[in-house]
Amino acid sequence: MSAASAVSVASASVIVLLLLLFGVGAIADEESPPATPVKVSVYYESLCPDSYSFIVRQLYPTWQNLSDIFTPEIYAYGKAQETEKSDQFECQCQHGPGECKGNIMLACAKEHLTDFDQFMAFTYCVMNEFKGSTSGLYCAKEVGFNFTDIEMCQRSEEGERLLHEVGVTQSTLDPPLTYVPWILINDNYTKKQRREAQKDLRKVVCDAYQGTKPLGCL
Ligand SMILES: *[C@@H]1O[C@H](CO)[C@@H](O)[C@H](O)[C@H]1NC(C)=O
Ligand SMILES: *[C@@H]1O[C@H](CO)[C@@H](O)[C@H](O)[C@H]1NC(C)=O
Ligand SMILES: *[C@@H]1O[C@H](CO)[C@@H](O)[C@H](O)[C@H]1NC(C)=O
Repeated sequence: MSAASAVSVASASVIVLLLLLFGVGAIADEESPPATPVKVSVYYESLCPDSYSFIVRQLYPTWQNLSDIFTPEIYAYGKAQETEKSDQFECQCQHGPGECKGNIMLACAKEHLTDFDQFMAFTYCVMNEFKGSTSGLYCAKEVGFNFTDIEMCQRSEEGERLLHEVGVTQSTLDPPLTYVPWILINDNYTKKQRREAQKDLRKVVCDAYQGTKPLGCL
């Protein structure tokens, strides 16, 4: 065998080896697609102490560690009552008018913030401050975005309309909301699961996740 053909045999072997490695890798990937993230839906109120505890102590810290395996869907509404007055909606909230303003601001933030991480960080900041809409500007600065669009939204009919839409979404819950925060896992409500989530959301999310458990679950 000439030196030249020895080299070409060697490089052919390298190519076969590479094909095997990458081929097998591709097959392994196809066999284990990532599992669907766990959906955690939360219906809460901006000035409710139990909502404060859940968002600040459970939802946000768990989200920071496990954002790859769960998707939060959060709605600030809860036990609000709406009355329709000549094409407009007036809202009465469990913890007073400040709570409605807070809920409206959070609905505006959900509509106008395109970055979901910013929306989560803003929600966390507003709940942690626990002053409803009066913490909006401060929290926008903390998170680092321009508050103008949200401020315009919350002062206009757009804010009322968005809050009304949250109420409409909430009214489709089955069973209907009787407690705040109301928590569903993969669209499923049970009282036991809701209580467990309030104590240890990390465990609930990790148990519900069908895929390979990430480090944050171990
Ligand atoms: C998040 O991870 C850190 C570091 O591993 C851990 O100390 C903390 O308890 C975790 N928090 C939650 C809510 O899982
Ligand atoms: C925020 O946005 C508004 C409207 O888009 C703009 O007029 C204003 O200058 C911006 N403020 C800052 C600090 O960028
Ligand atoms: C909801 O969760 C409960 C408790 O985990 C379970 O027994 C039930 O089958 C679930 N229902 C649906 C529709 O997934």
